[in-house]
Amino acid sequence: MNKSVSTILRSRALRSFHAVSRYPRHPLSTMAKLELSVPDLTLPDGNKIPMIGYGTGTAWFKKTEGAKDQACIDATKTAIRVGYTHLDGAEVYNTEEELGAAIKESKVPREKLFVTTKLNDSDSKSISDIPGSLDRSLKKLGLEYVDLYLIHSPFFAKGDKKLLQEAWAQMEQMAATGKAKSIGVSNFLKSDLNAILETCKVRPAINQIEYHPYLQHGDLLEFHKSKDIKVSAYGPLTPITRAKGGPLDGYLESLAKKYAVNPGEVLLRWCIDQNVVAITTSSKEQRLSDMLRIFTFKLTPKEVEEISDLGKEHHFRAFWNHIFDANDKS
Ligand SMILES: NC(=O)c1ccc[n+]([C@@H]2O[C@H](COP(=O)([O-])OP(=O)(O)OC[C@H]3O[C@@H](n4cnc5c(N)ncnc54)[C@H](OP(=O)(O)O)[C@@H]3O)[C@@H](O)[C@H]2O)c1
Repeated sequence: MNKSVSTILRSRALRSFHAVSRYPRHPLSTMAKLELSVPDLTLPDGNKIPMIGYGTGTAWFKKTEGAKDQACIDATKTAIRVGYTHLDGAEVYNTEEELGAAIKESKVPREKLFVTTKLNDSDSKSISDIPGSLDRSLKKLGLEYVDLYLIHSPFFAKGDKKLLQEAWAQMEQMAATGKAKSIGVSNFLKSDLNAILETCKVRPAINQIEYHPYLQHGDLLEFHKSKDIKVSAYGPLTPITRAKGGPLDGYLESLAKKYAVNPGEVLLRWCIDQNVVAITTSSKEQRLSDMLRIFTFKLTPKEVEEISDLGKEHHFRAFWNHIFDANDKS
């Protein structure tokens, strides 16, 4: 086929992409269907995590439990229907009930989904009774187990190694009961991980961190590789949402043009090409659908490196700014 014709056909198909997910659903007739599904990353414990996750925090966060947010339920159901099988929740988001309702109403078999929730370490009751916390979360989710249970942050310990190690020992019990298929952490830096690695029987499968070109945390990714701990990235779109106007804008635009996608998809692909699971969210079906186009192209190693290099010219942290100094890049 003439190269320019094939390029046009591909970009037309990609413009309205709908993933072929692992369960029967009702594809929109106006959307092209490509025969592919979301790839998995194998965790150190052998379990598999889908490379893109749909988040029920940030945009959906509620300060208190209160009434159920129907918009969150509907958006999560849409995400599932579009092809997202990896769903990210947390006790502190106060949206576990919404996530549970969406899962139930989606009618997708439980084993086809990968559900994460996180222990609210800022609540001393939760941290001192992790089995009780997980039971509470499971009840709200309406599930018998989660695929991944994370300690939301190490900040409760204020650098006290023993507190981190004690919490991790309770997490290991959760894996032993089968109520959490995999266990991991979130927002942990090297010193926090080292504390756990000193005494653990089961190493953290994954660390969920804020990760995008403007916050690469020095050599933290390399450190994870050396310890066989996987990484997932939250806030991956930060350079085009919260930190627009930075040194990456032009380059992201040019790559988006090259691959017939949007700049946000280039950022998600930058994670995937480094073996980092991307956790994103959207209230818009079209955007959710478009984002799955990231599994139809690959950045070259040089492009990944160039994004990283340009990203290092600017520092921006979107979360936990009350914990870190403005110039702290760790
Ligand atoms: N462990 C932790 O401490 C932690 C912290 C933060 C987040 N998380 C998890 O990570 C998930 C994702 O975090 P995030 O929301 O920061 O992810 P993100 O992928 O960086 O941002 C998603 C947001 O960007 C908006 N967006 C997407 N494309 C856009 C564009 N082209 N222009 C303007 N806005 C655009 C979406 O809004 P639309 O609805 O308009 O598409 C959505 O609200 C959360 O839901 C949560 O599950 C974890």
